[in-house]
Amino acid sequence: MVISKKVKNALQGASWVRRMFEEGEELKRLHGADNVFDFSLGNPNLEPPASLKNALKALADCPIPGMHRYMPNCGYSETRTAIAEYLAEESGLPFKEKHVVMTVGAAGGLNVIFKSILDEGDEVIVPSPYFMEFKFYIENSGGQIRLVQTHEDFSLDLKEIEKAIHEKTKAVLVNSPNNPTGVVYDDASLKKLGELLKKKSKELGKNLYLISDEAYRRIVFDGIKLPIMFNTYPHTIRVTSHSKDLSLPGERIGYVAVSPLCEEADDLIAAIVFANRVLGFVNAPALMQRLVAPLQKNSVNVRIYEEKRDLFYDALKAYGYDVVKPQGAFYFFPKAPIEDDVAFVKELQAKRILTVPGTGFGKPGYFRIAYAVDKKVIEGSLLGFKEVAMKYGIGRR
Ligand SMILES: Cc1ncc(COP(=O)(O)O)c(C=O)c1O
Repeated sequence: MVISKKVKNALQGASWVRRMFEEGEELKRLHGADNVFDFSLGNPNLEPPASLKNALKALADCPIPGMHRYMPNCGYSETRTAIAEYLAEESGLPFKEKHVVMTVGAAGGLNVIFKSILDEGDEVIVPSPYFMEFKFYIENSGGQIRLVQTHEDFSLDLKEIEKAIHEKTKAVLVNSPNNPTGVVYDDASLKKLGELLKKKSKELGKNLYLISDEAYRRIVFDGIKLPIMFNTYPHTIRVTSHSKDLSLPGERIGYVAVSPLCEEADDLIAAIVFANRVLGFVNAPALMQRLVAPLQKNSVNVRIYEEKRDLFYDALKAYGYDVVKPQGAFYFFPKAPIEDDVAFVKELQAKRILTVPGTGFGKPGYFRIAYAVDKKVIEGSLLGFKEVAMKYGIGRR
């Protein structure tokens, strides 16, 4: 045996998202890419804003001396300052450069947070369904994931969270807008979560952390304003990236921001910077740090995702699918008409439609549709969705 038992086990439970994506590649080879409707991967299909491309060109034409060299592990001062100013304006809190650490995407950000706060056996509470990579990231640092169920509409079940908190709990991780459900947590439930964490921190004699994964923060619909988590609880850490809002997932640029109200902010930030170094990220990509600094208020045209949501949601409802209307991100998480979500996903696959079983997100009986794809892929898939709905007797027309 050449690989570790831990990794071997992880590989055996291989990611459903990747598995479906790979099966899709095979289908595309057999039937041609235009005849396969691939909703397996949350890979933004919009191009980054023109302003980013122009800035990239300008930088290539007039390079800044030393711009490819090593830098402080926390990232460039100008970028961190620009983000701190944005966060201060958004939250009304005194964010400074020191509160922001540039990371290799949100994935890198989550890993440096867990490395910074977890001792062997410490627990992180995660509402389920959830983004499966969380489990691996927590385990990378010796921690354990503790799942709690959400309500039927995927909103937070605070009673379940309260029951799950105990001496080993280090943090609660929430993700809104959510992958895989697209649900956005409302102000009231987040305020209650903040109150609960304050109460429990007092009882336990330590500050629990609230980790807020806001990878989809700017992908929201229906004119809603996303609550500011920093204003609900002092020991909040935001992790986010420009993978989705600026359509840059391949460039691996994100950041972690620690609330200025966090009592242990200085120690925590020092630990995060150290973790960035020793996990081998060293620092976030240099070129991207320069390019995203002035774009903190920019994003791709979110209306395009909203139009796709509307088109797809109306059709799925008309065919009889039981689906919560998402207000953010680019996912649907409908109930499968049969108990066996893996079998149901196979039915869709027979129509050359690729989705991911809910089992891959800790919620059997459901399936995920990632709709950051061209409109014609959605339109091309609708007949297949309808036929499968008819087959299982949920179809209305
Ligand atoms: C909920 C959530 N968090 C984090 C990530 C990782 O994002 P990044 O590309 O910034 O590493 C993703 C990616 O899909 C995600 O869905």
